[in-house]
Amino acid sequence: MKNIVILISGRGSNMQAIVEAGIPGANIAAVIANRPDAAGLAWAAERGIATLALDHKLYGSREAFDAALAEAIDACHADLVVLAGFMRILTPAFTERYAGRMLNIHPSLLPAFTGLHTHQRAIEAGCKLAGCTVHFVTAELDHGPIVFQAAVPVLDDDNESTLAARVLAEEHKLYPAAVRAFVEGRIVIDGLRVKVRD
Ligand code: GAR
Repeated sequence: MKNIVILISGRGSNMQAIVEAGIPGANIAAVIANRPDAAGLAWAAERGIATLALDHKLYGSREAFDAALAEAIDACHADLVVLAGFMRILTPAFTERYAGRMLNIHPSLLPAFTGLHTHQRAIEAGCKLAGCTVHFVTAELDHGPIVFQAAVPVLDDDNESTLAARVLAEEHKLYPAAVRAFVEGRIVIDGLRVKVRD
């Protein structure tokens, strides 16, 4: 059994998709949020999953928050850390600690559109395709070895919210598939390239 700790900041729909996938061999050991009001915390608690709110505003520095977060994660004996809409920049010490065992989902086809407002920026850039990326986390924001990507069309009458909804539906398939591949030991990282065995 692999212990998985999921980090969220808000509604946690990707967290829900992973939990509801019921991945054999995956134990959702805890859901941790950096915002006490994150809606996903209540959803997880209602399902009997251990939850923890670590309010980043109560820590004097990014390093202090990340140290507390690492302590909580390690107390769960986490094999995999899953960032699911966790909107925090992480310190290099933190990303190094979980190198090769921390995944993120980002709502763009990386390396395009790192950072915020990805859908609006894709529309403004005239992209015909948008999408989402699951990748291993490194010190550089929204970079790191790519596990899976899914693309969707950008339609002529799209706005930020219609495109976001189309991408999110793909996120909810892609992220459980990536977590499943990790749990089943099918992922091999080779530099920036990731091979996922069938
Ligand atoms: C998702 O679209 C995820 O890709 C994005 O935040 C949303 C969280 O939704 N993550 C990032 O932008 C990270 N850079 P959720 O809380 O419903 O899963």
